Amino acid sequence: RRNSQNYINGIRLPSFIEKKMLEDLVDFPLQEDDLFVVTYPKSGTVWTLHLTTLIRNTSNAARSEHLVEQSMVWLEREGKEAGLALPSPRRFASHLPYHMVPGGAPARSLAKYIYVARNPKDVAVSFYYHLLRMKSIGNLEWDEFFEMFISGRTMFGPWFDHVLEWWQNKDAENILFLRYEDMKRDLPGAVRSISQFMGYDLDQATIESIAEQSSFENMKANPMANPDNSKYANHFKEDAGSFMRKGVIGDWKNHFSEEQSARFDAEFARRMAGSGLELASY
Ligand code: A3P
Repeated sequence: RRNSQNYINGIRLPSFIEKKMLEDLVDFPLQEDDLFVVTYPKSGTVWTLHLTTLIRNTSNAARSEHLVEQSMVWLEREGKEAGLALPSPRRFASHLPYHMVPGGAPARSLAKYIYVARNPKDVAVSFYYHLLRMKSIGNLEWDEFFEMFISGRTMFGPWFDHVLEWWQNKDAENILFLRYEDMKRDLPGAVRSISQFMGYDLDQATIESIAEQSSFENMKANPMANPDNSKYANHFKEDAGSFMRKGVIGDWKNHFSEEQSARFDAEFARRMAGSGLELASY
């Protein structure tokens, strides 16, 4: 089964990512006003992209393009030329692990990076439903997906390694490490940290307005914010339901069996040992 899948440097990647494409991106030229939003899939990528668009639009003229798409390229999906063609200030989204992100090691690059991590149990559930929405996926049982996830056979590799590598580099000045759960509990606080990190000094009213426009409900209701209407939505089934699924903390409790939960906790403790990162802090 593994042979028919796309593994590059031991990491499972979507079939559209070719080795050559990643090699071309290794030395992608980055600039000081470049901003990356990096995540393991289903950790709040679109949410964070949306926030950074609204923050930038407080000084740029707002455009009629979909909010997620404004000045943004997925380099590992669209390739080097698409990235080079983007007008500054550029934004790149990526799900690649730290050591594979275009332009070389983030802590030594000119660009800024926002990394968002989410409770891996909720990531797993969100990822499962995401796959069920895809045209290319037929039947997939939760139990089968759980085994893929815990053993690192999901796209973009093991959650543990992905988060750990970014976590170990989080103190670099150009890296902002955020948690989905903190954004959920205090969105204005998150808007404040993200905007300061991006070099904006926003007043409280603007911060609150951005947070309001970025709530799950408001994004879901807004065609300009809802990724169901973005150019990235074309590989989903017609009747797939919304990309904006639930947007809550703790949905894993409705899906993990007790045994799965205990196994996952043990694996987390083993893989993250000594890192200072604890499951309980999500
Ligand atoms: P659920 O499937 O748990 O609902 P990504 O953008 O990385 O693919 O992450 C998608 C997840 O983020 C989905 O989780 C989605 O609902 C959630 N999400 C998107 N916008 C959100 C928002 N404004 N607030 C909270 N969660 C949001």
